[in-house]
Amino acid sequence: MQHVAVIGAGIIGLLTALELRRRGHRVDIRSTGVAEQATYAAAGMLAPTSEVQFGQHSLRPLMTKAASYHRTLAAELALRTEQPLGYRDTPTLVVGRDRSDLEALRQLALEQCAAGSEVEELTSAQLRGRAPTLARHVAGAMLVPRDHQVDPRTLAAAAIDALTGPGRPGDGPPVSLTTGSSVASTDEIDADQIILTAGLGTAEINGPHRVLDLSLRPVHGDILRLHVPDSALLPGEDNLLDHTVRALVRGRPLYLVPRSGGGLVLGATSREDDMTGASAGGVLTLLQDAAEILPSVRDTELREVIARARPGTPDDLPLLGPVPGDPRVIVSTGYHRHGILLSAWAAARTADLLEVDPGVPLLGDMAGELAAVDPARFTTTSRLQEVS
Ligand code: GLY
Repeated sequence: MQHVAVIGAGIIGLLTALELRRRGHRVDIRSTGVAEQATYAAAGMLAPTSEVQFGQHSLRPLMTKAASYHRTLAAELALRTEQPLGYRDTPTLVVGRDRSDLEALRQLALEQCAAGSEVEELTSAQLRGRAPTLARHVAGAMLVPRDHQVDPRTLAAAAIDALTGPGRPGDGPPVSLTTGSSVASTDEIDADQIILTAGLGTAEINGPHRVLDLSLRPVHGDILRLHVPDSALLPGEDNLLDHTVRALVRGRPLYLVPRSGGGLVLGATSREDDMTGASAGGVLTLLQDAAEILPSVRDTELREVIARARPGTPDDLPLLGPVPGDPRVIVSTGYHRHGILLSAWAAARTADLLEVDPGVPLLGDMAGELAAVDPARFTTTSRLQEVS
């Protein structure tokens, strides 16, 4: 058993702590807050096909693999908590508003299918059957059967319950969760291993990882949470949509993610401006585009408008691995638009790293995956030589 300190309690930190506890380690979490940054805003699409764009060749296999880890995670969580897990395996519809949107989606689908994804173009009748509330004027849609979703807030609450509960035979002790103060330096942490999962805040903490150029940048997203009143539904209906809908509306991306109980999460903006709150233009465009795809969105109640920053990296891939010269510290950040999807995979790979000898080359899938997300890949060789 090792004593591991996890710094940060977003979904990456929480699930990493959970996996470490599951493997018998003693874990402490230190964080300013719990699941209140990107995790709090995230829509939670587990969508390795429809979330990957043209040319993201290195991201695609990671995303596909990561999606499968969520099934295992749900099973492990269910053994440790009775809280709802928020996982829904309904498919995703990818909708083109007009003919040029649909043509762009068809081209992307060709690339996705060539990479092994399952994408099927629907006839109008098939689309009506699956989503009768969508506007009649949409040009067409693809079905992505294996792109699912999880409610990140529900998942985070379940993870906290499992972390602090009695656990299972073989688990480490209940995790201690200390919040309310930030960690200024890894020097103040007394542990065998330190895992830095503080998102954008990772770069602010002093420690050996400061040798690395993490190249993190904030990429803001505006997120709306709507509620569908009973008056907008037919008897027996729970929501306006059953499937998650991703759409292209005259070139602009949009997603509508239905939750049980009538919730609808609306998003897709990516802003690199200096506004930390929601953008008026972003919110306006999201609502207008949503109403073009799903006209009855006008009948819903707007319950929440927030914005959060995702930790972006130059190549859209995360940063996961030990710090050169000090393998006691592992960096796990930069999950950008895919933190929820990649979280269960990141947790497993981080726990794997504690089981390998830092001097021995990695093997198999682990070697390839961790090479792609090497946290030193943006750091100059001369800088790395200083610590080797
Ligand atoms: N993964 C969806 C988003 O970041 O907007």
